[in-house]
Amino acid sequence: NLPRSVTIIEVGPRDGLQNEKGFVPTERKIAFILALKRAGFREMEVTSFVSPKWVPQMKDAGEVAEAVISEGDPVRNFILVPNRKGVERFRKTKAKAAAFFVGVSDTFNQKNINRTTEESLHELAPLIKDLKAEGCFIRVCLSTAFYCPFEGRVPEEKTVRLAEAFAALGADELSVADTIGMASPDESYSLFKKLKERFPDLLLTAHFHDTRKMGLANILAALQAGIDRFDASAGGLGGCPFAPGASGNVATEDVVYMLERMGIRTNIDREKLAEAVDGIAPFLSRPVESADYRLRKGG
Ligand code: HMG
Ligand code: MG
Repeated sequence: NLPRSVTIIEVGPRDGLQNEKGFVPTERKIAFILALKRAGFREMEVTSFVSPKWVPQMKDAGEVAEAVISEGDPVRNFILVPNRKGVERFRKTKAKAAAFFVGVSDTFNQKNINRTTEESLHELAPLIKDLKAEGCFIRVCLSTAFYCPFEGRVPEEKTVRLAEAFAALGADELSVADTIGMASPDESYSLFKKLKERFPDLLLTAHFHDTRKMGLANILAALQAGIDRFDASAGGLGGCPFAPGASGNVATEDVVYMLERMGIRTNIDREKLAEAVDGIAPFLSRPVESADYRLRKGG
């Protein structure tokens, strides 16, 4: 008994663009986000308030947030925040949804945000509580939930324990990530089944990178485990600059195609999604990874 509809959280403007070497002009980022909104997304990661020294692509995040988030916007616009400074910047925007991110594996968390996982938990706990009290929606992205590029296989129990810690702090959503695209469908099913049983009242989201082309298979397995929220990136863009070997997220177009063919509603207009990708593709250093998009272009 698969769900009749699923929510796709578009992460292209954040995960997709952060790994691009060349700077994408601010107005192109803004146009990309607005085009994605026209395609029907109701939840989206629009940018990240991280250090511009660490991720120069995101140095214009304030301008992007200002341009795309308006009062009364029906879209849940997430901004990624790694620390207190990120939260201070967040408070200056109209955004109401913050996404924190932490690696289950210490080594990855060190490379990504310069803290151990425990230190991050400590640092983020009061920030999460304060933002919750201010009425914000809190998403927590758990990186390296399956495999770490430095430590290898991450035990399920370790991921579940970190999820418990953030659930206890009041997170509304956990986005559980296969950062370097190493999970297999049986591993996807097993972890998501455990998480679903353990957290029946939390929003649980699966975040797959398509490094080994297992994104769709892993999504199907997660669907079977009861998950009905998926992160995906228009054009299959994406990857974490601090995770060697990470490539793009599973392409939104391909996820939408698969689900709609299975009779599962997404409320995403693939034609308009392709228009959004058309607008950003000329500014990217790598080809668009979506099969659906390439077929549309006759390739
Ligand atoms: P740090 O060097 O430990 O930070 O980096 P610090 O507190 O010592 O500050 C150093 C400098 O950065 C200072 O500036 C701060 O003001 C500035 P200076 O005095 O040298 O001029 N700074 C900031 N500036 C703007 N915004 C901020 C901010 N914080 C400090 N928020 C830090 C720690 C977290 C800042 C750094 O490691 C960082 O920015 N990391 C970001 C890494 C990142 O963006 N990774 C990609 C996103 S996560 C991801 O892709 C995974 C995900 O998709 C799921 C999956 O697939 O696994 C979500
Ligand atoms: Mg990611």
